Amino acid sequence: MKFSKRIEAMQSSPVRKLVPYAQAAKAEGKKVYHLNIGQPDVKTPAVFFDAVRKFDAQVLEYALSQGIPELIDAIVDYYKANGLNYDSGEILITNGGSEALMFAMLAVCDPGDQILVPEPFYTNYNGFGSTVDVSLTPVTTTAENGFHLPSKEEVLAAITPRTKAILLSNPGNPTGVVYTKEEVRMLADIAIEKDLFIISDEVYREFVYDGEVHTSFASMEDAADRVILIESISKRFSACGARIGSLACKNKPLIAQIMKLCQGRLCVPTIEQVGAVELYKMPKSYYDEVCAEYKGRRDIVYKALQEMPGVLCEKPKGALYVVAKLPVEDAEEFIIWMLKEFDYNGETVMLSPAEGFYATSGLGKNEARIAYVLNAEELEKAMNCLKEGLKAYTALKK
Ligand SMILES: Cc1ncc(COP(=O)(O)O)c(C=O)c1O
Repeated sequence: MKFSKRIEAMQSSPVRKLVPYAQAAKAEGKKVYHLNIGQPDVKTPAVFFDAVRKFDAQVLEYALSQGIPELIDAIVDYYKANGLNYDSGEILITNGGSEALMFAMLAVCDPGDQILVPEPFYTNYNGFGSTVDVSLTPVTTTAENGFHLPSKEEVLAAITPRTKAILLSNPGNPTGVVYTKEEVRMLADIAIEKDLFIISDEVYREFVYDGEVHTSFASMEDAADRVILIESISKRFSACGARIGSLACKNKPLIAQIMKLCQGRLCVPTIEQVGAVELYKMPKSYYDEVCAEYKGRRDIVYKALQEMPGVLCEKPKGALYVVAKLPVEDAEEFIIWMLKEFDYNGETVMLSPAEGFYATSGLGKNEARIAYVLNAEELEKAMNCLKEGLKAYTALKK
């Protein structure tokens, strides 16, 4: 039996593909610190579970395809609190930010079209792209330049007649970059000049450190009808398993088109939406606390990496990740070795190989993404374990 070229061309998630090695390590009795996946250990706010417990309908009905009105209204208010202006007819609830991203691609691209994306980028963009026969055209950014964008000319040079959109996460996964207002403006100008959509993935909006300011593409009013805003409760409220995201756009005809996709998949789980309503009502102090917690974790990871011989990285300014160059030839081989062959007092660490976060082949081979999603004590242990692992591995390779 033959499978489709489309499915065969799709890459396995670099974040998840090494999981069997982690499972084998655990079966051997090793403790594995998971710094490979953005699964935070921060508690989901109790209001979510309280709302779910109070849910007392006799029938668990389909919800409306666009999402329950209470959740849409709560997001309208959340946007307002962030200085962004969307009305309830401009927002669709989706099965995670993932579905919102895929719907956006489907709605603005035909098979064979291209989307411009700064690399390294959130690796699942690759998977979503291959699902809908859209290729990603990378604009390479580097640690040396803080993963900021190259000049306008360089970005323009990567645009072809088949480019339909610019896609980026801001703050950035995996780089931790927070794009400046000038960069956001520059991309908005390019989108207007070249008649492109901007798929702006702002799921880490609140995770910004060191006084950096996040500029939303939604604040660029002259580009409003081409900005598709992607949100998720996964990291914002540490509710990854709820699978609630959303898509917002001021271009109502586009929303009407995407609504057809929403109708086709019927609805998003009803009970999780009920819980999510309460999350979007959390006070500002909630975000401040969570942000302070992650900043502390970022500091631990960055300091530890600075002290490891041969490791190079840029201090991330946002999100929950850092990309580090390791003193190894092949980061994936090292990560597998850490799981298969190494332990430090019965413990080891799992990272994500960064190669799959690039579209340009050959880039990222000696890099790994580290997600600082564990509490301070566990992170200290994990980073110490990584230091010992690197020491042992580099000695072995000499
Ligand atoms: C940048 C970015 N966008 C989208 C997603 C997907 O979020 P969700 O869990 O809501 O599908 C993630 C998840 O890690 C992410 O990092």
